[in-house]
Amino acid sequence: LRSVSRHTAGRNVSPLALKILDVFREETGKIISGEDLSLRLNVSRTAVWKHIKTLRLLGYQIIALPSQGYRLLSSPNILLPEEIMSGLDTSRIGNKILRLDNIGSTNNEAFKLAEEGAEEGTVVIADTQNKGKGRLGREWLSPPGVNIYCSVILRPPILPVSAYQLTFLSAVAVARAVEQTVPLQPRIKWPNDILLNGRKIAGLLNEMSAETEKVNFVILGIGVNLNMNTKQFPDNLRHPASSLMIESGIEVERKAFFKTLIKELDILYDCYLRYGDGPVREEWIQRCDMLGKSVSVSGSGALISGVVTGVDDHGALLVRLPDGSVEQVLSGDVTLV
Ligand code: BTN
Repeated sequence: LRSVSRHTAGRNVSPLALKILDVFREETGKIISGEDLSLRLNVSRTAVWKHIKTLRLLGYQIIALPSQGYRLLSSPNILLPEEIMSGLDTSRIGNKILRLDNIGSTNNEAFKLAEEGAEEGTVVIADTQNKGKGRLGREWLSPPGVNIYCSVILRPPILPVSAYQLTFLSAVAVARAVEQTVPLQPRIKWPNDILLNGRKIAGLLNEMSAETEKVNFVILGIGVNLNMNTKQFPDNLRHPASSLMIESGIEVERKAFFKTLIKELDILYDCYLRYGDGPVREEWIQRCDMLGKSVSVSGSGALISGVVTGVDDHGALLVRLPDGSVEQVLSGDVTLV
């Protein structure tokens, strides 16, 4: 199954239904009379009722209390683009959002769309992926209903050699979003794992289409484990993996997290385009927990051990070996020793 359903902004939820949701949100938990809704939205009570029924079909639990009004009991656990986009005043990222129930990989879908000319800032998000891609050809576990799997299309005016800088950008955006969601301090582990309490809760996979002197587009692939529970992780994971819920004890609202993530990506991308990679890189370095630490690096040729001295302009990890020479590590798995 490539995709069971598609929602692009504006196609599935009418503007009136969205306004009804806005009123429910403003008056959280309250009973709102049909008359009140019809006056606020300047439509007939019959129109209100019709749209309440549509919202129910979409999974919103709305009860009608005779001679009192309507009350929103719960919202569906789906990331409707219309809801995400409501009140999202970003300049680029999220101007278009494509939501899929089930897809192989959001990165592949975004890549295809970008090749077909999709505009910068388009975001593809899926509820589940059946071929989620991780780094180094690994699989990215993507169970439905609990996490975030998304890919963002960027068209930065940069040389291909600079594209690595954009991974710093998504790492910092995820770290900021995590920080605004749970009362914990995320750390970044090179190249781009986001950790809470030393366990990986998010991974990033950027892909690019480029010519020698020009980037056509970059896909920022972002996977964040929000509400996965321990039973959903296999026993034999190479590195300890976790989720925001496991680490904080707080069940995270996916919509709110996703919105925060998009906003942070937009702010950071704007900063990157205006001032270059300096400020984003600076924040990445502050959040990186490897500087000055002893590490061993495997998976990229010979196993090496040394002390991390920094990252270079291309995003490579700089490791000082026991003989004093500095090795530039471009890929592989790094373990603190
Ligand atoms: C890693 O190995 O740490 C990178 C994981 C990246 C996973 C995300 S989920 C959304 C996007 N689509 C994919 O197939 N992979 C990335």
